[in-house]
Amino acid sequence: MNFWQELKSQNRPILCSAPLDGVSDLAFCKICLDGGADIAYTEMTSTNDLYHKSKQLITYLKQFKGTHRVGIQLYGKDPEQFTKAAQIAESLGFDEININFGCPAKGVISSGGGVMLMRDLDNIYKIIENTIKGTCLPVSIKIRAGINIESIKKHGLEINYNAIESCNDIIHNTNNQITKITALDLLNKIKNLPISCIIIHGRTYEQLFSGEINYNLIKECRSFVENNFIESKKKNGFSPIIIANGGIIDDITAKKALELTQANGLMIGMGSYGKPFIFNELKGIKNNNLNKYILNHAKYLFESKPQKAHLDFRKHLLWYLKDNENFVFLRNKIIKIESLKDIEEIINNV
Ligand SMILES: Cc1cc2nc3c(=O)[nH]c(=O)nc-3n(C[C@H](O)[C@H](O)[C@H](O)COP(=O)(O)O)c2cc1C
Repeated sequence: MNFWQELKSQNRPILCSAPLDGVSDLAFCKICLDGGADIAYTEMTSTNDLYHKSKQLITYLKQFKGTHRVGIQLYGKDPEQFTKAAQIAESLGFDEININFGCPAKGVISSGGGVMLMRDLDNIYKIIENTIKGTCLPVSIKIRAGINIESIKKHGLEINYNAIESCNDIIHNTNNQITKITALDLLNKIKNLPISCIIIHGRTYEQLFSGEINYNLIKECRSFVENNFIESKKKNGFSPIIIANGGIIDDITAKKALELTQANGLMIGMGSYGKPFIFNELKGIKNNNLNKYILNHAKYLFESKPQKAHLDFRKHLLWYLKDNENFVFLRNKIIKIESLKDIEEIINNV
């Protein structure tokens, strides 16, 4: 039984901590797991760097060994690199491999990666197929609601129209012109691949990180997957798990997302900033001691990144204490912290 099966059998929403570039390092993954996340994801990891065995990257990733329920997120655009990257990821002890098809960061999309991969669904198919070839671990994907054709053209990138098969009766064209590529188009393309989980950020590329979540689309994806992903059912015994993502910050938003999407679980990103125990809260576990989380998080960070932990932790401490009544006063101290002792001193006085 892989851990997705285990989590599914618990018959409650699966709660995932999101991959967050510049945030979800080892310490953040650990504190979110302490705070009740069922699985935590690393920041996006370059398959190009893994393929070329970047020493610095491998040394960093080796630190995750022994921490369980961690998925490594891979990004890249060359299918050939994904097989080897997946092999390396498995050898490093990760529990799961996730592929990023939703990143809108300039540095990634300018060369056609991240969300721009949606312009060629054949390539997405190959990337997933090659990843599965390289590993026995469960493979998941993280996608966005969609992207407009115009946005792809603006970046001077070619679109593989032949790869966009008409998906059921979903029509998103005017005058027979395809105007967007959606999560459903992507899922239609890869329905024969045995993936274990699909994480859907219910915003389009154009929305970036704010605005309405398309719950209905996530719900449609859920039923599409139930009816079409035969290979996943054969291999795993269940259709891919659907995880809804975007805008979940508390019990109310979580309940709304689950009700409207019928997803198997939720992924939380910004809602866990300064609140890694949000996962416990959603499970009904209260009394999460803020100071204990701050101290443990800081310790994890000073252990794993001794050189720059004090710099990295400043932003976390600002998030942790943002609702404190003395925040303006504390802020001046937080932006100067240099050591664990400075952090202890601040929290002993709040
Ligand atoms: C600072 C930041 C970094 C992110 N880095 C990644 C990343 O490395 N990989 C990824 O798939 N998504 C990344 N995302 C997107 C989040 O995982 C998530 O999909 C998005 O923030 C929506 O969820 P939320 O509203 O719960 O934050 C990032 C988002 C933010 C704000």
